[in-house]
Amino acid sequence: MTSSFPMASEPFFLLSFFLLFLLLPISSLPSTLNLWPQPTSISWSTPAAIPLSPYFSIQPHFSSHIYLHRAITRYTRLILSERHRPIIPPVVNLSNSSLSSLHLSISDLSAPLQPGVDESYSLYISTSGATLTAATPWGAMRGLETFSQLVWGHQPVVPIGLRIFDKPLFTHRGLLLDTSRNFYSVRSIFRTIRAMSYNKMNVFHWHITDSQSFPIVLPSEPELAAKGSYGSSMSYSTRDVKRIIQYGLSRGVRVVPEIDMPGHTASWAEAYPEIVTCANRFWAPTGKPALAAEPGAGELNPLHAKTYQVVQNVLHDLSTLFLDQYLHAGADEVNTACWETDPAVAHFISTGGTHDQLLEKFINLTHPYITDTLNRTVVYWEDVLLGPYVKVRPATLPTESTILQTWNNRAKNTKRIVQAGYQVIVSSSDFYYLDCGHGGWVGNDSRYDVQEAEPSD
Ligand SMILES: *[C@@H]1O[C@H](CO)[C@@H](O)[C@H](O)[C@H]1NC(C)=O
Ligand SMILES: *[C@@H]1O[C@H](CO)[C@@H](O)[C@H](O)[C@H]1NC(C)=O
Ligand SMILES: *[C@@H]1O[C@H](CO)[C@@H](O)[C@H](O)[C@H]1NC(C)=O
Ligand SMILES: *[C@@H]1O[C@H](CO)[C@@H](O)[C@H](O)[C@H]1NC(C)=O
Ligand SMILES: *[C@@H]1O[C@H](CO)[C@@H](O)[C@H](O)[C@H]1NC(C)=O
Repeated sequence: MTSSFPMASEPFFLLSFFLLFLLLPISSLPSTLNLWPQPTSISWSTPAAIPLSPYFSIQPHFSSHIYLHRAITRYTRLILSERHRPIIPPVVNLSNSSLSSLHLSISDLSAPLQPGVDESYSLYISTSGATLTAATPWGAMRGLETFSQLVWGHQPVVPIGLRIFDKPLFTHRGLLLDTSRNFYSVRSIFRTIRAMSYNKMNVFHWHITDSQSFPIVLPSEPELAAKGSYGSSMSYSTRDVKRIIQYGLSRGVRVVPEIDMPGHTASWAEAYPEIVTCANRFWAPTGKPALAAEPGAGELNPLHAKTYQVVQNVLHDLSTLFLDQYLHAGADEVNTACWETDPAVAHFISTGGTHDQLLEKFINLTHPYITDTLNRTVVYWEDVLLGPYVKVRPATLPTESTILQTWNNRAKNTKRIVQAGYQVIVSSSDFYYLDCGHGGWVGNDSRYDVQEAEPSD
């Protein structure tokens, strides 16, 4: 080796160091299968593989179950067309026969896609055949994803003598997409749900509305989107929503809608200025408390009767459009200064009322409607119970119908919520936010530091 590298000793040392790193994984490769996420258990004692027949099929077709049937059709096409070539292919002995089918066996074909549904599956591939066994169609979809990841080579092969058992560690594996600050097309949402299914994630948390825009067209409150979206080409119709839900069902992904309220609602003021406090005001007036956590100030007025009429229509429409048992109703970052710009609220506070009572009133008038009338489990952000400035008492939030989602204080708030008896969705901003950690909420942009013009009213 030295003679073929007639160079100074130092670079040679570096080179051999590098080669060592390259070589190390090779020796451990025969048993390496590149699966993501890693299954619960995998055994592949003698590395061997079998070529996939060009007539490979998944049996039976389950034509009676449209979502599973679509998944089977999709995976069959993917498996037969994909030509994954690992950088370093596993070293295996090839069987001299070929695999012509994967047999699916499902014990409860009618199990709905809902919180806690059994997503376990087991997969066995041998020279005599391949079987995928699952309790539900949703577990079968996870197994099909795994099977598709096992195929490699220009002449596709799959491992044999392979046994996999897999089940999720967590029943809720979600991804939140905010379609209010930025609009995303239906195609982009499809792409996101598709990527989730490759990673065996199962809840698309659709943060539909916020202060910036109200992009969903609701049958009984069409004005909210007509005036509050970025434009008619940047809103979601009933048909769009249905397509997104169907797309999710074909991939084992639930769609949980969130309408954030009573904070984060400046966009509602375009249609209903009378029910939104501090709308169209500069978010950070000099020498006074900020009116919002970021530009786009405006909150639903808890003392205005019309607020509840509009909110009820919104929630009702949401429950008819979305099938999921969970309905996310926001309740984060309520700003007391914004509320107090309203004379009725200011009077309520100056005569001994508290901000907590105002939030409790809002929750008391909306929570039972969601749980009792609409028969949904409410999800709120943790702020509603742990908010530093305004919060409700636990009695207002029954543990059996309320789930709290954490985002602050790392594990601390999660512990507090679990100790208080609630189910919790953990989405700590320190670990899981993909938009934080690189600058402030509004970026380092001086345009946000000064008010450019007074609104004329
Ligand atoms: C392939 O088969 C031969 C003959 O049985 C055996 O010696 C060899 O170890 C096998 N290779 C692998 C990677 O299993
Ligand atoms: C395939 O393998 C089996 C079992 O080892 C052997 O009996 C058979 O002759 C082989 N067939 C071919 C075509 O090599
Ligand atoms: C909200 O409801 C709870 C539980 O019923 C009750 O104790 C509380 O007084 C109500 N709060 C307000 C402000 O109405
Ligand atoms: C309420 O929802 C639960 C869970 O989805 C369901 O089992 C029950 O049948 C529903 N009740 C009514 C009255 O619709
Ligand atoms: C913000 O921008 C200014 C001007 O471009 C720059 O000097 C400053 O370092 C930036 N601050 C941060 C925290 O990035």
